[in-house]
Amino acid sequence: MEKTTHTPPIVVSGIRSTGHLHLGNYLGALRNFVEMQEHYQCYFFIADLHSLTTHPTPDHLQESVRDILAEYLAVGLSPEKCALYVQSDVVETIELYLYLNMNAYLGELERCTSFKDKVRKNPNNVNAGLLTYPTLMAADILIHRADIVPVGKDQEQHLEMARTFGERFNRMYKTELFPAPQAYQSDKPLVKIPGLDGSGKMGKSEGNAIYLFDTPEEIRKKVMKAVSDIGPSEPNQPKSEPVQNLFTLMSHVSTPDTLAHFEGLYNQCEIRYGDMKKQLAEDMVNFLAPLREKIDYYRHNEQLLCEAAQLGAAKAQQSARATLSRVRESIGIKSL
Ligand code: TRP
Repeated sequence: MEKTTHTPPIVVSGIRSTGHLHLGNYLGALRNFVEMQEHYQCYFFIADLHSLTTHPTPDHLQESVRDILAEYLAVGLSPEKCALYVQSDVVETIELYLYLNMNAYLGELERCTSFKDKVRKNPNNVNAGLLTYPTLMAADILIHRADIVPVGKDQEQHLEMARTFGERFNRMYKTELFPAPQAYQSDKPLVKIPGLDGSGKMGKSEGNAIYLFDTPEEIRKKVMKAVSDIGPSEPNQPKSEPVQNLFTLMSHVSTPDTLAHFEGLYNQCEIRYGDMKKQLAEDMVNFLAPLREKIDYYRHNEQLLCEAAQLGAAKAQQSARATLSRVRESIGIKSL
């Protein structure tokens, strides 16, 4: 474990507010969050402000925040155990964002990989919010004086920038207010959930994902269409990537006996991928059924969603206000 300044350590992570959760998110990241809330002081939030860089419609924004909240409650994040909140409910973050922007330099923001990617993909929408995405993310993290930030590889550069901005603030104002937030290293091996298209991991933008809220019919259709190969030509032949992916998925949703059964058939060159996929689809349907049911329950329970969001906001605001008053004091901002 890295050096931390809080006991238990403070954990912050943001969740993109666009798109639904898929099986890869669940097995790869969310189950960790659910585990972490037992041992750390956790702040998990839905990053609705970040999504404004792409100008969603008001209806769409609202709806996706509600859907994501329902999904996070359904997978087991507890409003009692962690602070589960909506980013825009904690306006303190926005004030810290402004202060951090005063010491975030154009050069370093422009060099950021995700910024360069987005400029390349959408040259007509290079707005200042996009450029300062890393400062807003740093504000999310620093507002709770986080020690640990569980994020994927694609966010490591942003986290590095949050460390830079925090250290810069400390140096400039001769304070030790901000700890250096570290990426979360789990002691369990990282699970990488493959997609259904033969190669790579499951992802929202790849079109190869099984969503937690997919209907049984959708799941069956997707699994039956999954890429495989022409089958093994000799016993115990190493598996091709698409076939290995099917087995990996099976290892997560089927029983060990089922997995061993199909491993055996494969090794004896007697496997029929159609049968295997049928079994995989049924096991996946059963694995996801309880989650789907809970998501549905929360989606239709406006009051529970509101209560969860309000409780989360109150907890997060308390922590944010404490940090912000120290920030203001350091800078010399004081009402006369
Ligand atoms: N940028 C993150 C992503 O795209 C989401 C995010 C916003 C975040 N603020 C954060 C993650 C703070 C961790 C900490 O996934």
